[in-house]
Amino acid sequence: MTDKKVIAIAGGGSTYTPGIITALLDHNDRLPIREVRLYDIDAVRNENMRLIIDLLLKQKGFDEVQLIVTENPEVAFTGVDFVFSQIRVGGLKMRELDEKIPLKYGLIGQETCGLGGFSYGLRSIKGLLEVVEFVQMYAPDAWILNYTNPESLITEAINRKYPNINMINVCDMTISIEETIAHNYGYNHKDWVPVYYGLNHFGWYKEIYDKSLKRDIMPEIIEKMLGQEIENEDLEASWQQTFKNMSKMLRHFPDYLPNNYFEYYLFPDMVLEHTDKNYTRANMVMDGREARNTRMAERIRNGETEGVLKFDFGEHGNYIVDIATSILNDEHRRFMLIVPNRGAIPNFRSDAVVEVPAYVGATGVEPIALDPIDDFHKGLMEVQVAAEKLLVDAYFEKSYLKALKAFTLNQTVPSASL
Ligand code: G6P
Ligand code: MN
Repeated sequence: MTDKKVIAIAGGGSTYTPGIITALLDHNDRLPIREVRLYDIDAVRNENMRLIIDLLLKQKGFDEVQLIVTENPEVAFTGVDFVFSQIRVGGLKMRELDEKIPLKYGLIGQETCGLGGFSYGLRSIKGLLEVVEFVQMYAPDAWILNYTNPESLITEAINRKYPNINMINVCDMTISIEETIAHNYGYNHKDWVPVYYGLNHFGWYKEIYDKSLKRDIMPEIIEKMLGQEIENEDLEASWQQTFKNMSKMLRHFPDYLPNNYFEYYLFPDMVLEHTDKNYTRANMVMDGREARNTRMAERIRNGETEGVLKFDFGEHGNYIVDIATSILNDEHRRFMLIVPNRGAIPNFRSDAVVEVPAYVGATGVEPIALDPIDDFHKGLMEVQVAAEKLLVDAYFEKSYLKALKAFTLNQTVPSASL
C-alpha cells in the first residue's frame, strides 16, 4: 500500500471542489490521502468551502483526513504530491464580461471560445503561470493536473516556458459527452474506447469501440442522435440545449460526432438566436450552483448538518482523480488529454497543442498515434491553432499587433474592425 498523499486544490473555493473531494474519497483504495489543502485568493469562498468540505469529510467517515484552507501559497503547496488546478482568474464576474462584451457587437460571447475565450486566456495564462511557479518552488516533484481554461492556450503557454514540467492538462467535456450520450441511449460509457481528435473544445469522435458489444457504435449513436435529440431532465436547461444542438450539427455534418463547442464556430447565428445578451451562462452559474454553495455554507455555519450537503456532479471529479491514480499506481489507463501533437495526428503541425487519446502512467502521458485527419477538420484546426499561437506570442511579447491578429483570426470574428 502506498503511503498516504497530500493533495492541494488551487481554486479551492470553486463549486467543483466538493465533486473532486468526493471522487478522492471514493478512490481512497487507489489513492489514499492524509491531507487536503484548499488554496484560493478569495478568503470568503475559501471559508465557505472549508465548512462544506469539513462536513463532507465527517459525513463520509474521513475525519482523520486533515483539511487545510489557506490563501498562502507556501502553506498550500509545500511538499504536496498532487495539485489539481481549477483556478478561474477574475472569477465569474469577469466570465460575465467575457460573455457580454462580444455579445454587444453581435458576436459569440463565451467563456472559452471567441473573443471572450481569448480575453480570458490572456488573464488565465498569467494566473496559472503563477500557480505553476509556486508549485515549482514549494513542491518541485508534484504533479499538476490542470482543469483551468482555456486549456489549449494554457497548455501552449506553460509548455513554452516549462517544457519539462510534471503537468497534465485535461478537460471533462469528452467524458461528459460520453456519459450523457451513454446514459441517454442506454449504454455504459465505461465500456467505451473512443477515438477522438482535435483541439480543446474543438474536436471530433471518429470511432467509439464498445468493449462489451465488441463493435464501433459511433454510427448507431449518430443515427440515434439524428432521430431523437438527447433528452436529459437532470441537466440544466442550457446544457440540455447544447446537447440538442449537437443533433442539429449532425444533420449537416453526419460523418463524425462533434464536440458540442462547434456550435459556436459553425453555427453562431443559431446560438445567438437563443442567447440572452443580458443574462448569460455566468449569470446562471452565479445564481445557480454558486448561490447554492453559499447557502449551503450558511446553513452549516448556523449549525445545521442533516441533509445540508446536496450536489450534482457528473464525471468531472472522477476523471481527474482517475488520472492521479493512474500516475500513482502506473495503471496506464486511457484518457483524452491536451498535449503537444508531435506526430500523434500525422498530417497536422507537430508543434500544435491537440486533444487526443493518451495513456497515463508513472512517467506521465503517452499519446496514441492516429490516422491522418480529413481536410475539413484540418482546415478548421489550422486556423484555430494559428490564432492561439499568435495570442500566446502576444502574451509573452506584450504585442498589440499579435493580439489583434489572433483576435482577427478567431473563427467567430467576421471583421478585423469588430
Ligand atoms: C465543461 C467544459 C469546461 C467548462 C464548463 C462550463 O465542463 O469542459 O471547460 O468550463 O463546461 O460549465 P458551466 O456549467 O460553468 O457553464
Ligand atoms: Mn473544458
